[in-house]
Amino acid sequence: MIAFREVYKAFGPNRVLEGLSLEVPDGQTTVILGYSGSGKSVALKHIVGLLEPDRGAVEVDGAAVHELDRDGLAALRSRVGYVFQFAALFDSMTVAGNLALGLRRQRLADREIGERTDEALSLVGLEGTQDLYPAELSGGMRKRVGIARAIALRPRYILYDEPTTGLDPVTASVMNQLMVRTRETLGVTSVVVTHDLKSAYTVGDRIALLYRGVIRQVGTVEQIQRSHDPIVRQFIEGRPEAAADAEQAAAETAP
Ligand SMILES: Nc1ncnc2c1ncn2[C@@H]1O[C@H](COP(=O)(O)OP(=O)(O)OP(=O)(O)O)[C@@H](O)[C@H]1O
Ligand SMILES: [Mg+2]
Repeated sequence: MIAFREVYKAFGPNRVLEGLSLEVPDGQTTVILGYSGSGKSVALKHIVGLLEPDRGAVEVDGAAVHELDRDGLAALRSRVGYVFQFAALFDSMTVAGNLALGLRRQRLADREIGERTDEALSLVGLEGTQDLYPAELSGGMRKRVGIARAIALRPRYILYDEPTTGLDPVTASVMNQLMVRTRETLGVTSVVVTHDLKSAYTVGDRIALLYRGVIRQVGTVEQIQRSHDPIVRQFIEGRPEAAADAEQAAAETAP
């Protein structure tokens, strides 16, 4: 299980996480919703040790991530696939080359690497793209390669950072279906960070709203849709005063 235990994180005077607590149940997809700049990516990066909390801890399978040594962190990262906000592929490498990177780190034989690469690409509907370079792919295809790269590691967890942002509606629903299918066929536990409500409702078993550094509410899709909390309502109804309020909160903490 992944658990945030009262996590605090600030960058100088900019207090981003202010006691964030959240448990991510195994086998489910938990969506973290929040305004742009609310700290969603920052929260996600704590799970794989790309950022360390000022206070509190993120635990994965019972161990505090910031207390892991190098080997522990490497082992953790082989259990957690990370689909980055901006696909983050190496432009000088082919699709197959990009997928092979993480697999080599797991010291797999070339044949196994080839098999896993083919399998992951076919799961995301990109069979036959092994020898293409990222520049030859559309934005949506690049995002799918990002997912294939995570799946190929056969991780227990997958973290998706804004998987549908910047995609047209059709490609976005392809991504949503892909995330649902990945949970169903591979049984992975996922955390999806997004401000795309439609995506949240489609892929989420549980939804958590991150607001002013803490989880304002967490519940099933239905519970969130029926919430009486004014902040949750503002967010899901897309009312502009909530965005203005969030901006004001950010301005108050800005240098
Ligand atoms: N490495 C960093 N150094 C300094 N400040 C940072 C760093 N990473 C994030 N921040 C700040 O933390 C805040 C939250 O950023 P974050 O990227 O987590 O937002 P987000 O919720 O993911 O937004 P978006 O939806 O636009 O991706 C922002 O004010 C950002 O400037
Ligand atoms: Mg982000």
